[in-house]
Order: sequence, then C-alpha cells, then structure tokens
Amino acid sequence: MQENLAAPVGTALDRFIHQKQEQFPFATGELSQLLRDIALAGKIVNREINRAGLINITGAYGAQNIQGEEQQKLDVIANVRFIRALRNGGEVCGIISEEEDELIDTGKPEGKYVVAIDPLDGSSNIDVNVSIGTIFSVYRRVSEQGTPVEARDVLQIGHKQVAAGYLLYGSSTMLVYTTGYGVHGFTYEPSLGEFFLSNPNMQIPATSNIYSCNEGNARDFPAEITAYLDFCKDQKYSARYIGSLVADFHRNLLKGGIYLYPSTKKAPNGKLRLMYECNALAYIVEQAGGKATDGKRRILDIPPTELHQRCPLYIGSTEMVERVEGFLKNA
Ligand code: AHG
Ligand code: MN
Ligand code: MN
Repeated sequence: MQENLAAPVGTALDRFIHQKQEQFPFATGELSQLLRDIALAGKIVNREINRAGLINITGAYGAQNIQGEEQQKLDVIANVRFIRALRNGGEVCGIISEEEDELIDTGKPEGKYVVAIDPLDGSSNIDVNVSIGTIFSVYRRVSEQGTPVEARDVLQIGHKQVAAGYLLYGSSTMLVYTTGYGVHGFTYEPSLGEFFLSNPNMQIPATSNIYSCNEGNARDFPAEITAYLDFCKDQKYSARYIGSLVADFHRNLLKGGIYLYPSTKKAPNGKLRLMYECNALAYIVEQAGGKATDGKRRILDIPPTELHQRCPLYIGSTEMVERVEGFLKNA
C-alpha cells in the first residue's frame, strides 16, 4: 500500500467547537468562548508542568487549602492560571475552586455561567512525573444576569451542568469534554500549540476487568466493599491505580473499568469532592454510556449543600458500577 506522505492533522478544537455551535440556532457563542478560555489556560498549565523540574516549581507551596491539604506550587499556579483565564474571558460571573475557601466573584456580572474547578488533580504525583489533570464543570447561573453572583449559582445539582471536562497531562496532553451531546477527546500537538480531535464520541465499554481503588485503605472500608474487592480478585481482575483521579478515570473510559473511592471510618463521605471532581466526571461518564453513584444515589442527583462537600464515588462501566451497588444494597 502506498504510504500517505501528507496525512491530514485533523480537526482543531476551535473549529470543532465552532461547528458544534452552528448546530444550535440560538447559541450565542459564550459557552464556546468559555471552553476556549479553559483550553488556553490548559496549554499554559501544560507548559508549566512540562518544565516544572527546571524552574523550581515542584514541591510544597507552604500553605494549606481549606480542606487542610498541603498545597503544592503547581496547585497554586494552576489555580491562578485558570481563574485568570476565566475572569478575563468575561463569560463567567463566579468560580469555585478546590484551592479557594470561598466563592470567587469574577467582577463580571454580565457573565452567564459559573465554573467549578479542580485546577490540579493528583497533586501527590506532580513531583514524580506521573499523570495529573484538571477537572471542570460549567453551569448556567440561576440568579439574574447583571447582578453579583450568589451561592445558589454555584451550588447547583450535577444534572444541571451544561458542560464538563478534564485536561490530562499525561504521556500526551488531552482535553476531553461534553456539552451534553457526546464526549469528545482532543490531543495536544505541542509543536503547533493546538488540540486536535482524536477521540470523537467516546463510549465506555459496558464492562471490563479493571478495578481502580486505593486498597491501602481496605481495612477502613465498609464490609460490603471489601466483599466486592474479594469478588474482583476471585474474577482475577487487574488492579490499576495511578492515584490521580483524572488519569484513572481516563484509562477506564477508554478500556472499561470501575474507579472506587468509598467512605472510610475516618472519612464517612469519602475523600473526593462533589462539586469539582465527582459531578464533572459523572456527567462525562453518563454521556459515554457509563454510570456514577455514591453507592446509593446517582451522583448527578445529589443535592449540594456546601462548596467543598465530599461524597463516596463509584464510577465507570455500567455493569461494574451496578454490581457494586448490588453489594451495597445490604449496607
Ligand atoms: P487532589 O490532588 O486534587 O487533591 O485530588 C487527589 C485525589 C484524586 O486525584 C485521587 O484519585 C485521590 O485523591 C487519591 O487519593 P489517595 O491518595 O487517598 O488514594
Ligand atoms: Mn482532585
Ligand atoms: Mn486538586
């Protein structure tokens, strides 16, 4: 077969977003611009991550976030970059972030949208050159446009998301997002400085043999979960746990699998945060044909009460999540 010497590079993110927007006659382009703002901040954060070891931005920043977690320098850098991009963009009136105690008023009351963000996910992997990510959710504000953002704008239930996505800074950098019409993945081409469509209409396999869980905590898990983990071993499933939610989720999205972060004795609501970790990935996984629950409830139906609320998470291939729910029925 003759080699194709000039294969097309594919569809760039901006063009894809533009094409999608044209399908909606009343779309005003603000959500499209917001996604572009996130992609731009993602490129900048990607650059910082890639040279982190050379410019003294690895390691601890010397402060804790509201959850008592040690902030890494890159947590802070990513937080600043995303907030600045969203503020300058003008489409967003309010932001909540893992790294910020309170709701941020962007000073752009005309902005129609609010964003919840985990600027850098997988902080414990930053200094060891292991995949990390960014997770974001977008909601339409409920208070009147032109007025200051309110808590009720950001404390919306997950199924009200209008867009969600993540960046994965891995062996390649990817942006994966949904606006409720399928899940689309883009791979960054660093020499061109562009994301190109690489994974259109992503669908998660209905089942697989991968489970992802920090089993170091197993002694503190509910008995039903230890029983489920025994089941995984009886089935000779493969254990795959990177320790960066985005990276574990992304692998399972492509290959099928389940990610579990159950409640523990110490943390009855688990570790992961509803507003800027669980909801976004739950929306994405459902759009890809998968499922996400806290063991009893659909993640997207959990009413939020506070910005930094936590919840247990069981997410991934539908049949696998349903099996865990089966184990938890007796809990
Ligand atoms: P973050 O770095 O944003 O605080 O999130 C860390 C989360 C998540 O990425 C990961 O899956 C989980 O913490 C790992 O927790 P354990 O170290 O307890 O396994
Ligand atoms: Mn995180
Ligand atoms: Mn984080």
